[in-house]
Amino acid sequence: MCGIVGYVGEKNAQDFLISGLKRLEYRGYDSSGIVTLDKNGKTTCLKSKGKIAGLEAKISKNKRSDSIGIGHTRWATHGEPSERNAHPHRSGKIYLVHNGIIENYKVLKTKLEKFHKFTSDTDSEVLTALIDHFYLDGEYPLTNAVVQALKLIHGTYGIAVVSELNPNEIVVARSGSPLVIGIGHGETLIASDASALIGHTRKAIYLNDGEVATITAKSVEIKTLDSQPVSAKVETIKTDLTAIQKGGYDHFLLKEIMEQPTSLTETLRGRIDLNEKTVHLGGPNLSEKELKAIKHVIIVGCGTAYNAGLLASYYIEQFTNDITIEPVMASEYRYRHAHVPDHSVALIVSQSGETADTLACLRDLKSQGVKTIGIVNAIGSTIAREVDGGTYIHVGPEISVASTKAFTSQAVAMIMFGLTIAEAKGIKNSFIAPYVDDIAKLPNEIDNLLQSLQETIKTLAEQYKKYDHAIYLGRDVAYPTALEGALKLKEISYIDANAYPTGELKHGPLALIDDRFFEFILLPEDGLYDKSISGVQEVLARGGHIIVVTDSTDFSLPVENTVFITTKLKLLTPILMNLVSQLFAYYITTAKGLNVDQPRNLAKSVTVE
Ligand code: F6R
Repeated sequence: MCGIVGYVGEKNAQDFLISGLKRLEYRGYDSSGIVTLDKNGKTTCLKSKGKIAGLEAKISKNKRSDSIGIGHTRWATHGEPSERNAHPHRSGKIYLVHNGIIENYKVLKTKLEKFHKFTSDTDSEVLTALIDHFYLDGEYPLTNAVVQALKLIHGTYGIAVVSELNPNEIVVARSGSPLVIGIGHGETLIASDASALIGHTRKAIYLNDGEVATITAKSVEIKTLDSQPVSAKVETIKTDLTAIQKGGYDHFLLKEIMEQPTSLTETLRGRIDLNEKTVHLGGPNLSEKELKAIKHVIIVGCGTAYNAGLLASYYIEQFTNDITIEPVMASEYRYRHAHVPDHSVALIVSQSGETADTLACLRDLKSQGVKTIGIVNAIGSTIAREVDGGTYIHVGPEISVASTKAFTSQAVAMIMFGLTIAEAKGIKNSFIAPYVDDIAKLPNEIDNLLQSLQETIKTLAEQYKKYDHAIYLGRDVAYPTALEGALKLKEISYIDANAYPTGELKHGPLALIDDRFFEFILLPEDGLYDKSISGVQEVLARGGHIIVVTDSTDFSLPVENTVFITTKLKLLTPILMNLVSQLFAYYITTAKGLNVDQPRNLAKSVTVE
């Protein structure tokens, strides 16, 4: 959600800024801009509406050799996407890029209007003017002016600020929006996401909330807003360039779907014991006694992460009847007055580790004394750092806005957490062993499915791309899978897709069935297979345009299309079915000629409320 970059050193700042912004484009892509300063403080500010390519074209006509600058790629919150609202914003001699939301901007704007002529509709320009107000044309050090201004702000921010009066220094600060400082040789880089730094340096300092850093080519000085010095911890960025490149695929989304056999293998590495048929999750930091005492598990997430949590909850409640599971959507849960029972733990699920709603729930649950356990992908992210313990899913960078490989690994990691509780509570190994076996087989089964069904699904997508509406159906574990399939389809293909439990059809959704809709029905051969077949019959009888995805060789109803899954899994088939949904959404979107990796109106990593 918005990307920030900055450079101070000896090299060409424009080069780093544009390459960094391209890496961060998945975080926001409605407009972008950079400002660079020459040795005398003369600025070149370039902005462009739309994709980074537009900004790149402008830069190529305005090449500068400046070696300090800041840049931004925007996901609009206040004010439409336009050059006028694009960052950097200017007030007097300072320029600012901002990620986050200034909640009290209206009050501040009214007061500042006497001093500053506002030219954009953004909350970020208000912060720029406020800093400028304290800067007094350089009478006051820039860092102090930033601190004074931030003390008056309510909301979230990751910011970078430069001044024409000191073209050797960038001031950055964070509260609720990530900022990473990369330490190079004679150069310092900044970014809102470490992926922009890869290939430039492996040494990084992750700023914490409430910290401000004054950065030059050779120094980084960090303080809190109360002027307490902070001794920074330099961490190592482990990701390499290949992980953030398309690697021969047309789109990141297809790469990430096809990567799942290996990404899931990474999630499982060292955590499954096939001899003993047990799982070993070290990260949650819970003793046998603590695991045994758990009575209630709250699973918190948004969007796909929530769907993964809901799916896992259907499994975990099968493992032991000694606990209750409560999957919740973070954006709702944070404002509910939910009662948290004694002996609760919370699983905090987030690919990016930065989602504002999820983070708010984490902080709230922690303050109530609930033990929090992260199911996170992004190493060093805010959620990963704030939870009491956690299991990284290790799927590598997920760049396409639509989440795919993270879903599979989040679901499996949570199922493993459920098995860990069951083991501690003394559930018989003979009960646990089939789940462990299925989990171990999953990467290979995913590989077989992706290889065998890719072409079939591509053909199917051509047939259904003309529809504007879709209904996804599934029962039991296949219901969260249907929810996830519908989310994937709607967010990238813009087909209005909704999911229902198959058993709910007759309570309302059946009224929708007509030629404007197609129905995507997940039909695992499980204990509810015969009942789910009735659902298929009900849709068939009303002239539905049905695709059935099933692992049953008996299925023979005359639906329009059947995708047969051949699998050795006994218990985790719905997870495999989700791969069919992922491929289907991908191929419909490419068939419609839409932007697969950066769907309209969305951005990866939702760091605003
Ligand atoms: C959908 C999607 C979103 C995210 C949600 C949570 O494809 O990507 O629904 O799952 O915004 O994001 P994280 O997992 O980063 O907290």
